[in-house]
Amino acid sequence: MASDDLSLGGAGVRRERLAAVSSERVGPYTLLRLERGGLDPGIPGQFFMLEAPGRLLPRPMSLCLAPPGELAFLIDPIGAGTRALCDLAVADAIHVLGPLGNGFDLSVTRPLLVGGGIGIAPLPYLSEALGGPPSLLGFRTERHAEAASLLPGAEVVVEPRLVTELLPEDPGDVLACGPEPMLEAIRNRAPGAQLASEAPMACGYGACYGCVVEIDGRYERLCVAGPVLSDSAGKD
Ligand SMILES: Cc1cc2nc3c(=O)[nH]c(=O)nc-3n(C[C@H](O)[C@H](O)[C@H](O)COP(=O)(O)OP(=O)(O)OC[C@H]3O[C@@H](n4cnc5c(N)ncnc54)[C@H](O)[C@@H]3O)c2cc1C
Ligand code: FES
Repeated sequence: MASDDLSLGGAGVRRERLAAVSSERVGPYTLLRLERGGLDPGIPGQFFMLEAPGRLLPRPMSLCLAPPGELAFLIDPIGAGTRALCDLAVADAIHVLGPLGNGFDLSVTRPLLVGGGIGIAPLPYLSEALGGPPSLLGFRTERHAEAASLLPGAEVVVEPRLVTELLPEDPGDVLACGPEPMLEAIRNRAPGAQLASEAPMACGYGACYGCVVEIDGRYERLCVAGPVLSDSAGKD
């Protein structure tokens, strides 16, 4: 196993070549389990750059689960890179860099997790870290909703119902990941919510400026300032 200690993106960031332990279909998604090697799983909401076979640039992925000795990622095969990751066979090895970016602030008193579609990806690890708080999930179809099995006890809706319909009047400390319209609706309903945002990322540690987004009227690299942003620093 090749490994490099790196001072990129903060302390404890490493790049290692890790072998796939299993690859399991969960509805239209794939749960890819890699051996953990010497990588730190990091804080829920942080991400790793996975080097997909045959692709020049690595792809950012949130950590979904961190069972002993493994790092597991839930992947939506939307393009060539994610499809190549979903097609990995057991024992195939890829380079992985991380953990990167800022994760969720876990010092919350009344956590409520909210996920939309593939935005469920960081929530199982987050739920474990917070002792299994209530969670709300929304999906496009019943097939996508099969991923809710990764978060037992979650309240689940399928379109045309929207997950934001389930938000109570006083939602408490919302920690959310999902598509931008869902995050925007949460910004309006739950001031101070922690929102995991997305932007295309080429390096993951601040070098390429490919992930610049507007945050509070300033242009910032999402991989450095986020991906988890508090609502007061919300994008747009
Ligand atoms: C911090 C972070 C964590 C992520 N975690 C996960 C995860 O856990 N599971 C998962 O399945 N996906 C996750 N993603 C999204 C994932 O990285 C992209 O879907 C992937 O890079 C697309 O690569 P591709 O080669 O398959 O598709 P491409 O061919 O590169 O892209 C397909 C289409 O998606 C668009 N696109 C690509 N990346 C993004 C992006 N980040 N945001 C918006 N549009 C994009 C492209 O413009 C294009 O239209 C995360 C993204 C970020 C930034
Ligand atoms: S992905 Fe390169 S600067 Fe953010």
